[in-house]
Amino acid sequence: MSIKNIKLAPSILSADFSKLGEEVALATESGADMIHIDIMDGKFVPNITFGASMVSAIRRWTNLPLDIHMMVTEPEKQIPLFIDAGADIINVHIETCTHLHRIIQMIKSNNIRAGIALNPGTAITTLSEVIEELDQIVIMSVNPGFPGQNFIPKTLNKVSDLRNQINKDGLNTDIEIDGGINKSSIKAAVEAGANILVAGSAVYNSNASVSDCIHELKNSI
Ligand code: DX5
Ligand code: ZN
Repeated sequence: MSIKNIKLAPSILSADFSKLGEEVALATESGADMIHIDIMDGKFVPNITFGASMVSAIRRWTNLPLDIHMMVTEPEKQIPLFIDAGADIINVHIETCTHLHRIIQMIKSNNIRAGIALNPGTAITTLSEVIEELDQIVIMSVNPGFPGQNFIPKTLNKVSDLRNQINKDGLNTDIEIDGGINKSSIKAAVEAGANILVAGSAVYNSNASVSDCIHELKNSI
């Protein structure tokens, strides 16, 4: 995969929530390719983060695509709100979808890119009936819920199996990897076949500027 097709998606989960607009603008100016927004409802995962009104506030601070990662039960109830808020990509967890096919159609019928996220314990075979419908697949390389967790190396097998399948089937599906991506793990993720790299604590931290972190990550690929 050529480097121009590799995208870095900073996750604002590790940003300073008291100045999210500025944090998003910083990532935008520093060469981010999209902004990853983690929606947590306190049920599917213990944390609670943002709702659709926060997404529409963030929309005013960047022209980059907003990549919405819904870690919520019954995502179908909130999807219309995120569409109205300015989402470009909506990812739902397969573990939360009773009517998976219907939910994918709901997203795509609004001209929004549709993605499915898989927990580390969920096999890629669960996608077999819908893979052709998807714009992207999110392989979770940590268990969802918190930033700053250790990368789970075994999830790379799923990335490479999925990349092989996508190539074999002639599909154009993006593979996003989310969790524990830093300057040590990013290269292996790309080599396995991921082309969208989410990074939270490796972009927003107190050790270096957002700009330096983004450049260091891109240089580590
Ligand atoms: C975890 C979230 C991630 C998180 C990644 O549930 O989905 O997007 O922000 O954070 P890092 O990159 O610190 O693992
Ligand atoms: Zn995420």
